[in-house]
Amino acid sequence: MTQFLKASEIGTDGAMTLPGRFYTYPEIFLWERERIFFQQWLCAGRQEQIPAPGDFFLRNIGTESVIVVRDKDGAVRAFHNVCRHRGARICEEAKGQFAGNIRCPYHAWTYALDGRLLGASSMKGLPGFDVSDYPLHPVAVRVWEGFIFFSLAAEPEPFETTHGALIGKFTRYGLPALRAARRIDYDIRANWKLMFENYSECYHCSPIHPALVKLSPSDSGENDLTQGPFLGGYMTVVPGYDSLSVSGKSCGIPVSEDLPDEDRDRVYYYSIFPNMLLSLHPDYVMVHTFWPQSHDRTLIECDWLFHPDAAVYPGFNPDDGVQFWDQVNREDWHVCELSQLGVSSRAYTPGPYSPRESLSAAFDKEYLRVLNPEDGDDFVV
Ligand code: FES
Ligand SMILES: [Fe+2]
Repeated sequence: MTQFLKASEIGTDGAMTLPGRFYTYPEIFLWERERIFFQQWLCAGRQEQIPAPGDFFLRNIGTESVIVVRDKDGAVRAFHNVCRHRGARICEEAKGQFAGNIRCPYHAWTYALDGRLLGASSMKGLPGFDVSDYPLHPVAVRVWEGFIFFSLAAEPEPFETTHGALIGKFTRYGLPALRAARRIDYDIRANWKLMFENYSECYHCSPIHPALVKLSPSDSGENDLTQGPFLGGYMTVVPGYDSLSVSGKSCGIPVSEDLPDEDRDRVYYYSIFPNMLLSLHPDYVMVHTFWPQSHDRTLIECDWLFHPDAAVYPGFNPDDGVQFWDQVNREDWHVCELSQLGVSSRAYTPGPYSPRESLSAAFDKEYLRVLNPEDGDDFVV
């Protein structure tokens, strides 16, 4: 039986907010890349983005670029976007379709969709050269609930181990079948952690989200994942409203026929360390993925997913939900940008988390655990 707790019942252990350097030092941001974003499983997107063999999209993080592609047998694969000849970045397009193979623009080495080097002209005369020695460097990839994850770690811990707490948790939402109806990209002048910390509490909801608290009281939250890499729980939609939308009505049809009654007036919110927020509504699912660019700039992609047949439903109105959250998102990003400005000041010192911010404190704790400052990293600890 899942146990749900109010944020204030979880406790903060007297936690204070992080010191300013975690939001403002470029050096710490580079460490985060190495120790978090180049190690952990990251949500890259959805399977539905690459339905046919040869379909691909790129994900760039710092120095790294990853090609996520559907191979000719229908499997999702990921490769470093680095040619095995002289290292050129092979693909520049953000997304598209490879015509049967992947060809480097520099000297035309050609790779199969499964990464094998097929042809390298003029290399035949080189003693000992064998195309089988030069496949594209693979990147570990897993599909969970229709979401594509990859890890840049040389030997990543199995996804089934790291994400075991989530496997099977959302089956009733039918996530693999859902279809994205909208995407909005946000470019935020704030450190990525501020948006995680903000998402993890609704203490701020009454002051900054009037439309949200009208439909879903800020103290209605109860959480079942309260420590570690995944944090969150649900909030209720007040009687008389169907979902979170501008009109308060459903955008169309429930995401799944299997959604039990108790979930039809709840919105579940989970943060999935380190780059995903999953917000499950009765009639749509909102997904944020984070792409930190620097210590004070983060790109966030936000997708709204609906039942695969929602579009043929006569009253389908995805914008009702999209516009609602676009407004709430912008309200959140604005206070995160204000936070970035404030924590960058010489006057900033860590402040006490309230009992209602226990999940924000839990996020910080997990972040520090994963960043794993070592002896000698004294400007971090
Ligand atoms: S660098 Fe790619 S073919 Fe030469
Ligand atoms: Fe918010």
